[in-house]
Amino acid sequence: MAGEAEALHQWFQENSRPLPWRKSKNPYRIWISEVMLQQTTVTAVVPYFKKFTARFPDVKSLAQADLKEVYEYWAGLGYYSRARNLHKSAQALYSLGQFPKNYNDLIQLPGFGDYTSRAVSSQAFSEPVGVVDGNVIRVLSRRFGLSIEWWKTKEKKHLQEIADHYASLSEPSIINQSLMELGSTICRPQNPSCLLCPLKKNCIALKQDRIDQLPLKKAKRQSEIWLWKAEIIEKGDKLALVKNEYAPFLKGQLILPGEVKKQKLAPKEYDFQHAITHHKIYVQVTRRRSNFTGRQKLPLEWIYPKQLKEKAPFSLIQKAIDIGLGDRI
Ligand code: ADE
Repeated sequence: MAGEAEALHQWFQENSRPLPWRKSKNPYRIWISEVMLQQTTVTAVVPYFKKFTARFPDVKSLAQADLKEVYEYWAGLGYYSRARNLHKSAQALYSLGQFPKNYNDLIQLPGFGDYTSRAVSSQAFSEPVGVVDGNVIRVLSRRFGLSIEWWKTKEKKHLQEIADHYASLSEPSIINQSLMELGSTICRPQNPSCLLCPLKKNCIALKQDRIDQLPLKKAKRQSEIWLWKAEIIEKGDKLALVKNEYAPFLKGQLILPGEVKKQKLAPKEYDFQHAITHHKIYVQVTRRRSNFTGRQKLPLEWIYPKQLKEKAPFSLIQKAIDIGLGDRI
């Protein structure tokens, strides 16, 4: 494996993409990039990363920001709980006074899981710990011909040990990023470019012609169908939002009032359909003027449409309002 670490290192120097978080070893920037990359591809992340770090260039600026503004800069990346956790972790980091410099200290922080702590400590502080994300799972499963159920604890640990070993053989930041980069650019799920791969000489799946069978596929979580009857309630120039304690998606966020029901089949009539993780949401929007008398069960928050981007930066809500208000926005 030592020769492979060399090959990976060299391949990365010659082929890696010049991404904005690779310009320095700044732990804050590496952390933000890693959290963004956990849900989205590199290409999609780059513009968000640039805007986010221009507005929040360091731990202090993020810790002191209003959460609503953090959501605004996150809008479009999805999984808003990550933005919330990022904000909370920045506050913990700020009160700590310095960025912890190793895995064991990082993982104590709220919002720093195993992967993030490894990614930051290896890339910012060159700690020899490996990272295992979806790309690395694919590269290692193929390279070592592993027909294993990698989503299970013991099997995942095996992959982690291999990744740790690679990281110990050369500069950990480069080795880890080279395995991830290889997975996203060469060792792709479909039609990988094996001829260009620095690990091709030793790749067992390639030798055995099993590339398209590895890694094993995890059975997909079944999508749930939901009908959301969303209400646009207007009073003067404002409309009502409510803290979501009734729908299983966008939990805890400000959304339109209404009701949701789980369905066996897609409804025949709906205004539009939208997916959030494993929720397939069929939306019916109604619009009415409020005869608000204070009898509503939930406390409503009245906002101007122009505040929507800040208060509820979720494409599901934006779409519902656009459709519900027609040409009014
Ligand atoms: N995916 C997650 N982190 C990455 C990185 N640093 N380089 C390439 N792909 C990644």
